[in-house]
Amino acid sequence: MKIAFITDLHIAAEGETPQGVDVRANFLKTLDFVRTMKPACLVLGGDLCYDTGNRAVYQWLREQLLDLPCAWFVIPGNHDDSVMMAEEFSLTHHLHGTELYFASPLEGYPAIFLDSSKAQFSPAQWQWLGDELKAIHHNVLIFCHYPVLPASSEFMDTKYPFRQTEQWLELTSSLPCQMHVVSGHYHTDTVALRGNTSVLVTPSTYIQLDPGTPGISLIKTPPAVREINVTPNGVTSRVHYV
Ligand SMILES: [Fe+2]
Repeated sequence: MKIAFITDLHIAAEGETPQGVDVRANFLKTLDFVRTMKPACLVLGGDLCYDTGNRAVYQWLREQLLDLPCAWFVIPGNHDDSVMMAEEFSLTHHLHGTELYFASPLEGYPAIFLDSSKAQFSPAQWQWLGDELKAIHHNVLIFCHYPVLPASSEFMDTKYPFRQTEQWLELTSSLPCQMHVVSGHYHTDTVALRGNTSVLVTPSTYIQLDPGTPGISLIKTPPAVREINVTPNGVTSRVHYV
């Protein structure tokens, strides 16, 4: 099973080009590449909006996804509004208070979609996640905007990290399953491994952040898409710049 993951689209208002980047054109180019990949599904990993949740942006995105010949999923990032997203993508049945999270097996493979838009999970989301994971005696794919582990990116690890890494380790360390977490947020391509958690951090379709500097330093690259392959031999992944 092949999965395409794109993240940190940061779609601005029509006609706006943040940092000189045509974010809408980048997204459309990435979507064309996704079509050629012929994945089983596409996951949009959050920060769909440039700055804050924007109904018109969600509506535009949904229109672009209408004729995609595969299933697609969305999770919120810190620049999204989870409730607005749920409303615009017809996902209100997955709203829990103001959080949008759900489980949806992909061709029978366990997959969990989390709401880390506040850089942490509510007690209710932790409880739900724990119950889901305890029932899985298999590897599991978890889609979560924030990398749940530090990821050797000085600026993001210091300024904008996931705030509950210790709680993640407490919950997962005794579980029998291997958790493959697919994330964005850091605008870079890296991997973090600890215990039974691996985190595949995925670059943005907008712009990347230099992981080696304490301050914010932007790097322009072509838009990125992560390919994930789940096979009987295990999970493999690579990033394409399109
Ligand atoms: Fe983010």
